[in-house]
Amino acid sequence: MDHPIIIERQDRVVIVTLNRPAARNALNSAVMLTLADDLAPLDRDPGVGCFVIRGSEKAFAAGADIKEMADKTFAEMYTQDFFAAWERFAALRTPKIAAVSGYALGGGCELAMMCDMIFAADTAMFGQPEIKLGVIPGMGGTQRLTKLVGKAKAMDLILTGRMMDAAEAERAGLVSRVIAADKLMEEALAAAQTIATYGKTAAMAAREAVDRALELGLREGIVFERRLFHALFATSDQTEGMAAFIEKRPPSFTGK
Ligand code: CAA
Repeated sequence: MDHPIIIERQDRVVIVTLNRPAARNALNSAVMLTLADDLAPLDRDPGVGCFVIRGSEKAFAAGADIKEMADKTFAEMYTQDFFAAWERFAALRTPKIAAVSGYALGGGCELAMMCDMIFAADTAMFGQPEIKLGVIPGMGGTQRLTKLVGKAKAMDLILTGRMMDAAEAERAGLVSRVIAADKLMEEALAAAQTIATYGKTAAMAAREAVDRALELGLREGIVFERRLFHALFATSDQTEGMAAFIEKRPPSFTGK
Protein backbone atom coordinates (compact mmCIF):
# COMPACT_ATOMS: atom_id res chain seq x y z
CA MET A 1 0.00 0.00 0.00
CA ASP A 2 1.26 3.49 -0.83
CA HIS A 3 2.12 5.68 2.09
CA PRO A 4 -0.91 7.91 2.75
CA ILE A 5 1.25 11.02 2.86
CA ILE A 6 4.56 12.02 1.25
CA ILE A 7 6.98 14.18 3.21
CA GLU A 8 9.72 16.16 1.45
CA ARG A 9 12.16 18.66 2.83
CA GLN A 10 13.35 21.85 1.08
CA ASP A 11 15.85 23.49 3.43
CA ARG A 12 13.76 24.59 6.44
CA VAL A 13 10.41 23.90 4.77
CA VAL A 14 8.58 20.57 4.96
CA ILE A 15 6.16 19.81 2.12
CA VAL A 16 3.44 17.32 3.02
CA THR A 17 1.48 15.83 0.11
CA LEU A 18 -1.73 13.94 0.78
CA ASN A 19 -1.30 10.81 -1.30
CA ARG A 20 -4.64 9.18 -2.09
CA PRO A 21 -5.31 10.89 -5.42
CA ALA A 22 -7.61 8.14 -6.75
CA ALA A 23 -9.89 8.67 -3.73
CA ARG A 24 -9.65 12.48 -4.11
CA ASN A 25 -7.45 12.37 -0.99
CA ALA A 26 -10.30 11.20 1.21
CA LEU A 27 -9.03 11.49 4.76
CA ASN A 28 -9.12 8.03 6.30
CA SER A 29 -7.70 7.00 9.67
CA ALA A 30 -4.36 6.13 8.09
CA VAL A 31 -3.98 9.70 6.78
CA MET A 32 -5.09 11.16 10.10
CA LEU A 33 -2.75 9.06 12.25
CA THR A 34 0.23 9.26 9.87
CA LEU A 35 -0.03 13.04 9.65
CA ALA A 36 -0.19 13.37 13.42
CA ASP A 37 2.62 10.86 14.07
CA ASP A 38 5.02 11.87 11.29
CA LEU A 39 4.72 15.62 11.76
CA ALA A 40 5.13 15.61 15.56
CA PRO A 41 8.94 15.16 15.54
CA LEU A 42 9.28 17.69 12.70
CA ASP A 43 7.22 20.15 14.73
CA ARG A 44 9.78 19.89 17.54
CA ASP A 45 12.75 20.11 15.13
CA PRO A 46 14.32 23.59 15.32
CA GLY A 47 15.50 23.06 11.72
CA VAL A 48 11.91 23.05 10.44
CA GLY A 49 10.45 26.52 10.04
CA CYS A 50 7.22 25.94 8.10
CA PHE A 51 4.95 23.19 6.80
CA VAL A 52 3.16 23.34 3.45
CA ILE A 53 0.24 20.90 3.16
CA ARG A 54 -1.04 20.11 -0.30
CA GLY A 55 -3.21 17.57 -2.10
CA SER A 56 -3.38 16.82 -5.80
CA GLU A 57 -4.31 19.15 -8.65
CA LYS A 58 -7.93 17.87 -8.59
CA ALA A 59 -8.44 17.66 -4.87
CA PHE A 60 -6.78 19.04 -1.78
CA ALA A 61 -9.06 16.55 0.03
CA ALA A 62 -12.68 15.56 -0.61
CA GLY A 63 -13.42 15.05 3.06
CA ALA A 64 -13.34 12.25 5.56
CA ASP A 65 -13.43 8.79 4.00
CA ILE A 66 -17.13 8.06 3.59
CA LYS A 67 -16.46 4.39 2.79
CA GLU A 68 -14.57 3.97 6.06
CA MET A 69 -17.34 5.63 8.09
CA ALA A 70 -20.45 4.31 6.37
CA ASP A 71 -21.04 1.23 8.54
CA LYS A 72 -19.98 2.62 11.89
CA THR A 73 -22.36 2.80 14.83
CA PHE A 74 -22.80 5.61 17.31
CA ALA A 75 -21.06 3.51 19.98
CA GLU A 76 -18.02 2.93 17.74
CA MET A 77 -17.73 6.60 16.76
CA TYR A 78 -18.19 7.77 20.34
CA THR A 79 -15.97 5.29 22.17
CA GLN A 80 -13.15 5.69 19.61
CA ASP A 81 -13.69 9.45 19.69
CA PHE A 82 -13.45 9.27 15.90
CA PHE A 83 -11.58 12.29 14.45
CA ALA A 84 -10.03 13.20 17.83
CA ALA A 85 -6.53 12.66 16.43
CA TRP A 86 -7.10 15.54 14.00
CA GLU A 87 -6.66 17.85 16.95
CA ARG A 88 -3.06 16.62 17.13
CA PHE A 89 -2.55 18.03 13.64
CA ALA A 90 -4.34 21.26 14.55
CA ALA A 91 -2.12 21.59 17.63
CA LEU A 92 1.17 21.53 15.68
CA ARG A 93 2.95 24.76 16.59
CA THR A 94 5.16 25.24 13.52
CA PRO A 95 3.49 27.61 11.02
CA LYS A 96 1.55 25.66 8.40
CA ILE A 97 0.22 26.77 5.03
CA ALA A 98 -2.52 24.84 3.22
CA ALA A 99 -1.94 25.02 -0.55
CA VAL A 100 -5.40 24.18 -1.88
CA SER A 101 -6.00 23.14 -5.46
CA GLY A 102 -9.33 21.62 -6.52
CA TYR A 103 -11.80 20.32 -3.97
CA ALA A 104 -11.48 21.08 -0.26
CA LEU A 105 -14.73 19.59 0.97
CA GLY A 106 -15.92 18.46 4.39
CA GLY A 107 -12.87 17.27 6.31
CA GLY A 108 -10.71 18.68 3.49
CA CYS A 109 -12.00 22.19 4.17
CA GLU A 110 -11.65 21.52 7.90
CA LEU A 111 -8.05 20.35 7.45
CA ALA A 112 -7.26 23.52 5.49
CA MET A 113 -8.80 25.59 8.30
CA MET A 114 -6.54 23.85 10.85
CA CYS A 115 -3.62 25.45 9.00
CA ASP A 116 -2.51 29.01 9.71
CA MET A 117 -3.12 30.25 6.18
CA ILE A 118 -4.90 28.96 3.13
CA PHE A 119 -3.44 29.75 -0.29
CA ALA A 120 -6.03 28.81 -2.90
CA ALA A 121 -5.50 28.00 -6.56
CA ASP A 122 -8.10 29.65 -8.77
CA THR A 123 -9.49 26.12 -9.26
CA ALA A 124 -10.18 25.62 -5.54
CA MET A 125 -13.70 24.78 -4.36
CA PHE A 126 -14.57 24.85 -0.67
CA GLY A 127 -17.59 23.36 1.05
CA GLN A 128 -19.03 21.52 4.01
CA PRO A 129 -21.40 19.06 2.27
CA GLU A 130 -21.90 16.72 5.27
CA ILE A 131 -25.60 17.60 5.46
CA LYS A 132 -26.03 15.70 2.18
CA LEU A 133 -24.75 12.58 3.96
CA GLY A 134 -27.16 12.94 6.87
CA VAL A 135 -24.53 14.30 9.25
CA ILE A 136 -22.76 17.57 10.07
CA PRO A 137 -19.08 18.61 9.98
CA GLY A 138 -17.13 16.66 12.59
CA MET A 139 -13.55 17.92 12.33
CA GLY A 140 -14.26 21.39 13.66
CA GLY A 141 -16.10 22.86 10.66
CA THR A 142 -19.08 24.33 12.48
CA GLN A 143 -16.70 26.09 14.87
CA ARG A 144 -13.70 27.11 12.77
CA LEU A 145 -15.70 28.12 9.68
CA THR A 146 -18.02 30.27 11.77
CA LYS A 147 -15.07 31.96 13.50
CA LEU A 148 -13.33 32.54 10.18
CA VAL A 149 -16.18 33.68 7.90
CA GLY A 150 -18.99 34.54 10.32
CA LYS A 151 -22.42 33.04 10.91
CA ALA A 152 -24.08 34.17 7.66
CA LYS A 153 -21.68 32.40 5.29
CA ALA A 154 -21.08 29.44 7.60
CA MET A 155 -24.81 28.70 7.91
CA ASP A 156 -25.25 29.09 4.14
CA LEU A 157 -22.47 26.57 3.38
CA ILE A 158 -23.23 24.08 6.16
CA LEU A 159 -27.01 24.04 5.74
CA THR A 160 -27.14 23.99 1.93
CA GLY A 161 -23.99 21.91 1.39
CA ARG A 162 -23.10 24.08 -1.60
CA MET A 163 -19.54 24.77 -2.70
CA MET A 164 -17.89 28.19 -2.94
CA ASP A 165 -15.14 29.01 -5.38
CA ALA A 166 -11.78 30.57 -4.56
CA ALA A 167 -12.92 34.14 -5.27
CA GLU A 168 -15.88 33.83 -2.89
CA ALA A 169 -13.66 32.18 -0.28
CA GLU A 170 -11.24 35.09 -0.51
CA ARG A 171 -14.05 37.64 -0.18
CA ALA A 172 -15.34 35.72 2.85
CA GLY A 173 -11.92 35.87 4.51
CA LEU A 174 -11.31 32.13 4.42
CA VAL A 175 -8.26 32.26 2.19
CA SER A 176 -5.22 34.51 2.33
CA ARG A 177 -4.41 34.56 -1.39
CA VAL A 178 -5.90 33.29 -4.65
CA ILE A 179 -3.20 32.23 -7.10
CA ALA A 180 -3.18 30.88 -10.67
CA ALA A 181 -3.18 27.08 -10.29
CA ASP A 182 0.19 26.63 -12.02
CA LYS A 183 1.82 29.13 -9.66
CA LEU A 184 0.26 27.84 -6.42
CA MET A 185 3.18 25.80 -5.10
CA GLU A 186 5.77 28.36 -6.19
CA GLU A 187 4.01 31.06 -4.20
CA ALA A 188 3.23 28.84 -1.21
CA LEU A 189 6.86 27.72 -1.06
CA ALA A 190 8.14 31.28 -1.35
CA ALA A 191 5.95 32.34 1.59
CA ALA A 192 7.01 29.25 3.56
CA GLN A 193 10.70 29.95 2.88
CA THR A 194 10.24 33.54 4.05
CA ILE A 195 8.53 32.42 7.27
CA ALA A 196 11.25 29.83 7.81
CA THR A 197 14.00 32.47 7.72
CA TYR A 198 12.56 34.09 10.86
CA GLY A 199 13.22 32.84 14.37
CA LYS A 200 11.04 29.80 15.05
CA THR A 201 10.31 30.95 18.60
CA ALA A 202 8.94 34.27 17.36
CA ALA A 203 6.99 32.60 14.54
CA MET A 204 5.42 30.12 16.96
CA ALA A 205 4.54 32.94 19.36
CA ALA A 206 3.02 34.99 16.53
CA ARG A 207 0.71 32.24 15.36
CA GLU A 208 -0.23 31.28 18.91
CA ALA A 209 -1.19 34.88 19.66
CA VAL A 210 -3.26 35.25 16.47
CA ASP A 211 -5.06 31.98 17.23
CA ARG A 212 -5.93 33.24 20.68
CA ALA A 213 -7.83 36.11 19.06
CA LEU A 214 -10.39 33.52 17.95
CA GLU A 215 -10.87 32.29 21.51
CA LEU A 216 -10.36 35.17 23.93
CA GLY A 217 -12.03 38.51 24.58
CA LEU A 218 -10.05 41.59 23.46
CA ARG A 219 -8.71 42.46 26.93
CA GLU A 220 -7.46 38.92 27.70
CA GLY A 221 -6.11 38.59 24.17
CA ILE A 222 -4.09 41.79 24.46
CA VAL A 223 -2.67 40.70 27.83
CA PHE A 224 -1.75 37.32 26.28
CA GLU A 225 -0.02 39.08 23.38
CA ARG A 226 1.83 41.48 25.67
CA ARG A 227 3.17 38.62 27.83
CA LEU A 228 4.50 36.83 24.74
CA PHE A 229 5.94 40.09 23.37
CA HIS A 230 7.78 40.72 26.65
CA ALA A 231 8.95 37.08 26.79
CA LEU A 232 10.59 37.40 23.36
CA PHE A 233 13.04 39.86 24.94
CA ALA A 234 14.57 36.78 26.58
CA THR A 235 15.59 35.47 23.13
CA SER A 236 18.83 36.07 21.28
CA ASP A 237 16.73 36.49 18.11
CA GLN A 238 15.33 39.73 19.58
CA THR A 239 18.87 40.99 20.28
CA GLU A 240 20.01 39.92 16.80
CA GLY A 241 16.96 41.24 14.94
CA MET A 242 17.13 44.69 16.49
CA ALA A 243 20.94 44.91 16.27
CA ALA A 244 20.80 43.93 12.59
CA PHE A 245 18.28 46.68 11.90
CA ILE A 246 20.43 49.29 13.61
CA GLU A 247 23.61 48.05 11.93
CA LYS A 248 21.83 48.01 8.54
CA ARG A 249 22.59 44.33 7.83
CA PRO A 250 20.37 41.26 7.33
CA PRO A 251 19.60 39.41 10.57
CA SER A 252 20.63 35.82 11.19
CA PHE A 253 18.08 34.13 13.40
CA THR A 254 18.65 30.90 15.34
CA GLY A 255 15.28 30.41 17.00
CA LYS A 256 16.96 30.88 20.37
N1 CAA B 1 -14.69 9.42 0.85
C1 CAA B 1 -14.42 8.26 0.21
N2 CAA B 1 -14.22 8.20 -1.12
C2 CAA B 1 -14.30 9.34 -1.82
C3 CAA B 1 -14.58 10.57 -1.21
C4 CAA B 1 -14.77 10.58 0.20
N3 CAA B 1 -15.01 11.73 0.89
N4 CAA B 1 -14.61 11.52 -2.16
C5 CAA B 1 -14.34 10.91 -3.34
N5 CAA B 1 -14.15 9.58 -3.12
C6 CAA B 1 -13.86 8.54 -4.11
C7 CAA B 1 -15.09 8.19 -4.94
O1 CAA B 1 -15.91 7.29 -4.24
C8 CAA B 1 -14.45 7.60 -6.17
O2 CAA B 1 -14.06 6.30 -5.86
P1 CAA B 1 -14.24 5.12 -6.97
O3 CAA B 1 -13.30 5.53 -8.08
O4 CAA B 1 -13.80 3.91 -6.23
O5 CAA B 1 -15.67 5.13 -7.37
C9 CAA B 1 -13.19 8.44 -6.34
O6 CAA B 1 -12.93 9.04 -5.07
C10 CAA B 1 -13.35 9.57 -7.34
O7 CAA B 1 -14.50 10.31 -6.97
P2 CAA B 1 -15.56 10.86 -8.04
O8 CAA B 1 -15.70 9.89 -9.17
O9 CAA B 1 -16.78 11.24 -7.30
O10 CAA B 1 -14.74 12.14 -8.56
P3 CAA B 1 -15.30 13.48 -9.18
O11 CAA B 1 -14.10 14.24 -9.64
O12 CAA B 1 -16.40 13.21 -10.15
O13 CAA B 1 -15.99 14.27 -7.95
C11 CAA B 1 -16.04 15.15 -5.68
C12 CAA B 1 -15.17 14.75 -6.90
C13 CAA B 1 -16.97 16.32 -6.04
C14 CAA B 1 -15.06 15.58 -4.61
C15 CAA B 1 -16.90 13.94 -5.24
O14 CAA B 1 -16.06 12.79 -5.14
C16 CAA B 1 -17.56 14.11 -3.89
O15 CAA B 1 -18.58 14.76 -3.80
N6 CAA B 1 -16.97 13.54 -2.81
C17 CAA B 1 -17.55 13.53 -1.50
C18 CAA B 1 -17.47 14.90 -0.83
C19 CAA B 1 -18.07 14.83 0.57
O16 CAA B 1 -19.22 14.52 0.75
N7 CAA B 1 -17.24 15.15 1.60
C20 CAA B 1 -17.65 15.12 2.97
C21 CAA B 1 -17.24 13.82 3.60
S1 CAA B 1 -17.82 13.60 5.25
C22 CAA B 1 -16.79 14.53 6.19
O17 CAA B 1 -15.82 15.08 5.72
C23 CAA B 1 -17.12 14.61 7.64
C24 CAA B 1 -16.29 15.56 8.40
O18 CAA B 1 -16.69 16.60 8.83
C25 CAA B 1 -14.90 15.25 8.71
